Amino acid sequence: METGAFLKELFGMDGQVAVIIGGTGALGLALARGLSKNGAKVVVASSKQTSCDAAVETLRGEGIDAVGRQVDVTSRESLVELRDAALQFTGKVDMLVNCAGVNAADSFLDVDADAWDRIMAVNLKGTMLACQVFIESMLKNDNGGSILNIGSVNSDRPLSRVFAYAASKAGVVNLTRNIAQEFAERGIRCNALCPGFFPAEQNRKILDDKRVENIMNGTPMKRYGDPGELVGAAILLLSRNAGSYITGSAVYVDGGFTASWF
Ligand SMILES: NC(=O)c1ccc[n+]([C@@H]2O[C@H](COP(=O)([O-])OP(=O)(O)OC[C@H]3O[C@@H](n4cnc5c(N)ncnc54)[C@H](O)[C@@H]3O)[C@@H](O)[C@H]2O)c1
Repeated sequence: METGAFLKELFGMDGQVAVIIGGTGALGLALARGLSKNGAKVVVASSKQTSCDAAVETLRGEGIDAVGRQVDVTSRESLVELRDAALQFTGKVDMLVNCAGVNAADSFLDVDADAWDRIMAVNLKGTMLACQVFIESMLKNDNGGSILNIGSVNSDRPLSRVFAYAASKAGVVNLTRNIAQEFAERGIRCNALCPGFFPAEQNRKILDDKRVENIMNGTPMKRYGDPGELVGAAILLLSRNAGSYITGSAVYVDGGFTASWF
């Protein structure tokens, strides 16, 4: 077998459908692009229909066919509507990427309880609800399904002044492992991808000079990541063949941040 055919058999996603929630964001759009270039049909979903439309237009401009649909991950009803719409567009959903996320920084004594609830609702409860809603349909697939939850380096170690965010992302990895063990015998795999630092809308406002200095000191590669650098790991974890025995894992793509201790 020639190399291209071998790699396609191992990693290829032809004929499969991926829903990327948070697919209009910096990382989600790169993942949608990557999965699509690897053969998957993609549905991008996020909190605003206008963002979904813009993301679809961007992808179509690159020759990638995609559909977009608004969703609020804090609402089970909204997620059911997304799932049913995706099934109508595409017939089935094989892969789910949970990439919606929000963040805010405060000193601990200033943490606002409502802001805490909001971050937990989007990052952790939203991930749980989306897994619940999409697993219901994946269980009916002949080939099951695969879920990728987006964690963070905060899943492993809490970064200063992002208390709710760090706790939510630790929860995402814990939840991922629990879902993995619950559904391992029923054809559903669930893994976490934990990015290091990829400056984007969501975290730019908390990247003050001191934090940037600390990040660079703590990152052995001494640079930020580019969203495209998440795609290979995402494909491995989601792919039916290459990832067939991988479930409950958390893969850090962080320039060595979580490996370093100084
Ligand atoms: N950028 C980074 O450096 C970094 C690092 C580690 C982890 N992450 C995580 O990666 C994910 C994507 O981050 P990003 O940098 O692309 O952020 P982003 O702000 O660019 O994108 C966030 C996405 O989440 C969506 N979203 C927010 N609230 C939602 C809701 N209630 N319902 C549905 N969608 C909602 C937004 O519409 C957007 O599509 C997040 O979970 C984030 O925590 C990002």
